[in-house]
Formats: sequence, structure tokens, C-alpha cells
Amino acid sequence: MVKGVITKISGPLVVASGMRAANMFDMVKIGELGLTGEIIEIHGDKASIQVYEETAGLKPGEEVLSTGLPLSVELGPGLIKSIFDGIQRPLEEMYRIQGYNIKRGLTLPALDRKKKWHFSPACKAGDTLGEGDVVGTVKETEVVTQRIMLPKGVSGEIISINEGDFTVDEPVGLLKDSRGREHDIKMITTWPIRVGRPYTQKLPPTEPLSTGQRNIDTLNPIAKGGAAAIPGPFGSGKTVVQHQLAKWAQADIVVYIGCGERGNEMTDVLNEFPEIIDPKSGKSLMERTVLIANTSDMPVAAREASIYTGITIAEYFRDMGYDVAIMADSTSRWAEALREMSGRLEEMPGEEGYPAYLGSRLAQFYERAGMVRTLGTRPRTGSVTAIGAVSPPGGDISEPVSQATLRIVKVFWGLDSALAYARHFPAINWLNSYSLYVTSLTPWFIKNVAPDWMEKRGTMMRLLQKEAELNEIVKLVGVDALSGQDRLVLNATRSIREDYLQQDAMDEVDTHASYGKMYGLMSLVLEYYTKCSAALSRGVSFRGIDHLKVTERIGRIKFTPEDRFPQELAAVREELDAEIRELEKSEVEE
Ligand SMILES: Nc1ncnc2c1ncn2[C@@H]1O[C@H](COP(=O)(O)OP(=O)(O)OP(=O)(O)O)[C@@H](O)[C@H]1O
Ligand SMILES: [Mg+2]
Repeated sequence: MVKGVITKISGPLVVASGMRAANMFDMVKIGELGLTGEIIEIHGDKASIQVYEETAGLKPGEEVLSTGLPLSVELGPGLIKSIFDGIQRPLEEMYRIQGYNIKRGLTLPALDRKKKWHFSPACKAGDTLGEGDVVGTVKETEVVTQRIMLPKGVSGEIISINEGDFTVDEPVGLLKDSRGREHDIKMITTWPIRVGRPYTQKLPPTEPLSTGQRNIDTLNPIAKGGAAAIPGPFGSGKTVVQHQLAKWAQADIVVYIGCGERGNEMTDVLNEFPEIIDPKSGKSLMERTVLIANTSDMPVAAREASIYTGITIAEYFRDMGYDVAIMADSTSRWAEALREMSGRLEEMPGEEGYPAYLGSRLAQFYERAGMVRTLGTRPRTGSVTAIGAVSPPGGDISEPVSQATLRIVKVFWGLDSALAYARHFPAINWLNSYSLYVTSLTPWFIKNVAPDWMEKRGTMMRLLQKEAELNEIVKLVGVDALSGQDRLVLNATRSIREDYLQQDAMDEVDTHASYGKMYGLMSLVLEYYTKCSAALSRGVSFRGIDHLKVTERIGRIKFTPEDRFPQELAAVREELDAEIRELEKSEVEE
């Protein structure tokens, strides 16, 4: 064990001498209180350490002990429903023991050591298993069953395996490896947060992660295993979008990182998530959620670690064969933590004071997203989809964090203050947002939703682009100068925007839509356009078209619950046809 002495303290940064034999990223215990820290730089015998707790009162001369181990997380039953801080300390447990003024230096295991879990073997004595193979299962919550896997580097013959109730660190069985060495099989494993967990193969993104959000799923879908950013100015709806995704994305597991946001936003999550009924299970959303909270009032260094802690937990569930979605809100606050540490290290500042390695650190998070074939002799397929909110100051995405993020992620859902101001939610700008997965996901949509899903999406996009052009003309010469067909385009795009893209997160029905409902609604909105356009060509007046009563019903149909939607859709279609027929008849008779 390497023992050093503090020579300097600067906020969350401590410098210690006598550390020549220590390693980069080793976890250390600092001072009499035994504060937790991590070595982030070594020069000669001096180590710079970022400290995950308040350093007030720490004095030069106090001791620093390196544990010789990298900062790691504990993986095993007990993760789901937990609320951890950035270095996986169990917040609820700490509050329970100490109240809200958590004493420094308190170390509690992330996973409860007393709780017993029922372990059911998935193999038997005599079986030969490889690393990553499943030895048994634990029903962790009503919704999630953990598959207990052999850790990396462990393989061989099962000597014994037992059904029963065990704590996470009690042996559930015994394994003999090829060299004849025996290993206890336990439910708990650990993994260093800054290293991606291994897999056999990364798979191409060919399946969408449905989110139930029309704007996202239709215009700019994300693939399972994809990476997306949600940049947006203050109050534009980043957090609401992240919450919507946590609630409605078709993920088996959600890891939600509240990263440097205001304490009350995290309180919203803590209050709201348990109340939300997960549509898949009928149970609370927490039954499949892991929360990581590092709010703005908590030590800044732990915020830096929080996204890696989160994605390591996400990878662990991916390795079981699950689809995991991880959200970080907001990565800008994370980057500020990085900038603060870099400043304290007196590194050469890059753009706007961020360190030159900002981009590579962001990549070390987002690039761990992916759909993979897992390790094991019977590998599974699992995915981690990563979605980060970005809060550029003033909403200007030319700033370094937005730019660095956009170089890595493949989906950009750009929130727009003008849309938010007009209360068009979700305020995702349809003209500048993009998804680079559209091409690779097209076959899936054609096969599983509708052969013309992509064509309809294309028509919608073209009309919206046309609207932007027409608006320029209207600005110059007024709307009356437009032809009937062009004015119809404006009516149709208003319908696309208001009746399709706008989606009320607070409305019980509208908050989520299935692909089927989306397709029906999209078809209807586009039929309104094509049918009216045809009527115009047959000589019907724009004024007549403009006064069709059915438009009101088209505007309301999104609030029709899924089970009654098909009938309502048929009825509205009939009404649309009937009104156009009548209009044609009356105008011809005139
Ligand atoms: N999809 C939505 N449906 C209805 N209302 C919404 C929606 N999205 C956002 N809002 C409204 O906008 C408000 C601000 O949203 P939100 O808190 O998500 O913004 P933000 O971008 O996270 O803000 P900040 O920059 O402060 O973190 C919400 O309180 C809500 O009233
Ligand atoms: Mg927010």
C-alpha cells in the first residue's frame, strides 16, 4: 500500500508527495477522515487527487493512502431502485444513518451486505462454463430478473451450485478452473468505472428504440445502442424530454443520472419516478430504474465520475441481455466539473477554459453505447442507448460542449427557444435536428410498422421545409399572394405541427403513442393534404377547404386512447371524404 503526505489543497484537488509507486486512477483515502479520492495525475512522486467529498479542514501533512485499486462500482442484486451518488454511495442508506448532513469519510458499501436474495441456479454441477455465462438468476424487483454471470477471467467446471437465499457476497457455488484452482461463485462483482466492460462483438444499429414520442420516433429515431444529444437553452424542455424517454422508451432498464442540476429537479425525479406506472409492467417505474444523483450542491468531483459510474451499471445490465437506456442531465454541468478540476490542475486551458481532453472524455462516455453480442459460450444480445442533455449558455450550440458532443453522437434533437416560447412541446426543431440512423433503421420500419412509413416521413419533412420557404415569401408579400395550393401547404403543415408533432407530456393519453397510432395519425394528417389538394385541382376554392369542420376533429384525435383510436380514425376519414364531397357539390351547384 502506497502512503503519501498532503502537500497542497485546492478545493476538490489535493496534491500528495511520496506517491511515486501509486497508479493513475487509483482510489485513495485522504486524511484523518479518510475522504475518498482518485489519482488523476502523477508527476514524479507527486500525485494530484480529485476528492469526492468536501475538503474543508484538511491540512497539509495529513496522510494519503492509495488502495491500489481503480475507482470501481459494485455490480449485483440491489442496484435497481437504488439512488446513488456519483461514486455509487447509497444515498438513501446514508441519509437513513446520518440524516441529510452526511458526515465526511463515511464509507458504506453500494450494495447492501445484509439483504438476502433468492438465487436460482441456471446450471448444474459438472457443467463447463465460460466467462460471462449465466450461472443463475435473482428476481431483483417485480420487473427485473438479474442474470448472475461469471466474471471476466473466470471459467471452468461447476463443482457445486446452490439454490437458496444468500447475501451478495456469500458463495452460491464453487467452480474449478482449467488449472485446478477453485473459485467461489458470488453474486457481487466489481468493475472499474473508466473501463468499458468487454463484449464479443459490437452489432450494427438496425432496430429503433421506440420512445412513444412522435417527433422523435418519426422524424429522428434513435437506434437501440445509439447515442443522442438534446441541446437546448434554459427552460426549453430538456429535462421533460429526458423524463419522457425514461418513462416511455422501450428499455428493460433505465439508468438516470442527475448531473449537477438543481436539487429540486432531482427531487422531482425522486418524487415522480416511483409514482409513474410503467406501462410495460403496471408497476412503478422505479422497479426498473437506477438513479444517480449529483446535484449542484454536491461535491463537484463526484459529478465528473457520475457518468462513468452510470454507464458501467448500464453495461452490466446490457451484458445480461437487456436493452438499457441511460440519460444524463446535464452533460454541460458535468463538463463544468471537468473544467473546474482542469483549472485546479493548472492545465493549459482550451476553448472557453475547457481542457483539451473535453472531447475525448465525452467520447469515453458516449462510445460505450452500443448493441453487442455479449461474452459467454451462449452469448446474449444487449444494448446501451445513451442520451445526454446539453445546456449551452444562451442556447448557442457553437460552444465547446455542444460541438464536442455533436462530433460523437449520431442523433441531434435540437430544442428551440422560439418553439418553447410558443408552447410547442416537445420543442424539437424539425428543420435542424437529425438522426444518422434513419437509413439503417428504414428496413425495420418497413418490415415492422408499414411499408410506406419512410415515404410518409419524407413527405412530412418536405412539406415542413416547403413551409419554411413559404413563410419567407409571406413575410415579404403577405399570405394573400400565395396560390391556393401553397396556402393549403401552410394549412397542412400547421396540422403536422400541431396535430402530429406537438405532444403533451402532461396529458394522460397524448404522453405516449404506439407506432400503430403514430402511423394512423400521420396517414390522416397527410391524407388531409392530398385529398384537399386534389379537390383544389378539381376547382374547389381554397376558402371552402379552409373552412372544413373536420380539421378540428383531426386536431383532437391524438387524445383518443389507443383502444378506441382505430374506430375514431375510420370515422374521421369518412367525415373528411364526406365534407370534401359536399363542398365540391355545393360549389359546383352555385
Ligand atoms: N413535452 C412537454 N409537454 C408539456 N410541457 C412541457 C413539455 N416540455 C417542456 N414543457 C414545459 O416547459 C417547462 C420547462 O421544461 P424543462 O424543465 O424540461 O426545461 P429544461 O430545458 O430542462 O430547463 P433547464 O435549462 O432549466 O434545465 C416545463 O416545466 C413544462 O412546463
Ligand atoms: Mg433541466
